[in-house]
Amino acid sequence: MNILLIGSGGREHALAWKIAASPLVTRLIATPGNPGMAKICETRRIKVTDVEALVALAMELSADLVVVGPESALEKGLADRLALLNIPCFGPTEAAAQLETSKAFTKDFTRRQSIPTAAYGVFEDAAKAKAFLAGFTAPYVIKADGLAAGKGVVIAADLSEAEAAIDDMLGGRFGQAGARVVIEEFMTGEEASLFALSDGQTAMLFGAAQDHKRALDGDQGPNTGGMGAYSPAPVLTPALLAQAEQQMILPTVAGMAAEAMPYRGVLYAGLMLTPAGPRLVEYNARFGDPECQVLMLRLKSDLVPYLLATANGTLDHLPQPQWHDAVAICVVLAAPGYPEAPKTGSVIRGLDQDFGPDVVIFHAGTEQAANGDILASGGRVINVCARGRDLAEARALAYGAVAKIDWPQGFHRTDIGWRGL
Ligand code: AMP
Ligand code: GLY
Repeated sequence: MNILLIGSGGREHALAWKIAASPLVTRLIATPGNPGMAKICETRRIKVTDVEALVALAMELSADLVVVGPESALEKGLADRLALLNIPCFGPTEAAAQLETSKAFTKDFTRRQSIPTAAYGVFEDAAKAKAFLAGFTAPYVIKADGLAAGKGVVIAADLSEAEAAIDDMLGGRFGQAGARVVIEEFMTGEEASLFALSDGQTAMLFGAAQDHKRALDGDQGPNTGGMGAYSPAPVLTPALLAQAEQQMILPTVAGMAAEAMPYRGVLYAGLMLTPAGPRLVEYNARFGDPECQVLMLRLKSDLVPYLLATANGTLDHLPQPQWHDAVAICVVLAAPGYPEAPKTGSVIRGLDQDFGPDVVIFHAGTEQAANGDILASGGRVINVCARGRDLAEARALAYGAVAKIDWPQGFHRTDIGWRGL
């Protein structure tokens, strides 16, 4: 098989690592990829939002499967274009990707399908939005409807902060993505990330993890894309997994099919484990980053048949995936100033040493200089991942490897996995 993988982050490096290990693969090409991925597959320079060029590349390669990492390519309709050419695509159509790209769409969908989630209202008018706040107590949850690079959610401590967030979003801070705001009830509980494959008809749970969204130790500092993850997430007991599958995943897959938007790809449910049971915080139309990295370390089955069956609508032919009886962890090394203003360009050394059989390094925001140096080129830069018999062992292995990487400018959290310990 020829597989084209779209994306350049740690998530895509982990997918490439797992896909490249499959005996089914003849050629794996990633675009735009990163220097870490370039060591295990071919890479091209096409950007993830250049749909025309991506489609042309898929044809040139006679791709048997296109695997889409990030949501931005889905929002631009890459899956729709590939469908017209009968090229199997792991990733939903533009309409189905609304589960991530429009929070208003998703909230209305959860209401139609009776999926447990926070009470909410959707507004285009600031005065009406502010009046709606009166029905809630602090803290207030204000969200821009569309994709806002992880900055579209404000948890406001009081009314004046909430009103300022409404004015800010409806005032054009996020452009079209903020033309509508969603105001939600605040939910309390522990958060977890649940993944399921869906081929449009059949859903299959595909692992769970816990992310660490805040930049600093002790869950302090600003929200980020995720500073580390581990899997499995013991907080998601088998009973809670079954409940989330019954109350969220199955009605979502059935509902999207019934509404003529069959969902093909990975459905990532952000869950809040409230005292009243699991409730949906949000859906994403892709794997989580860095959750994907820990799932790939734990996945024992060949990934490729699952990706292909998801794209082709034949998931019901496959057995449940097999997982290593191990705990996987990922520690993100980030550039100074991340998430507000990451400072790029510093040199990272020591990435190519032998870290032992249970440590894997994935590149995220890196680039290679002409002299061969690996430079930081984004906010989240390196993912140090490890697999151990238990969380304590995996954690010790990962932090042991972190200590051997020579990057004085970078920073990381020192407490990844604390909830699980
Ligand atoms: P989202 O982008 O919707 O996942 O929101 C980012 C983060 O904001 C989530 O991971 C939660 O920590 C928090 N959050 C979002 N919605 C709510 C809510 N209704 N209640 C409490 N926290 C929330
Ligand atoms: N780690 C959170 C996300 O991928 O959205």
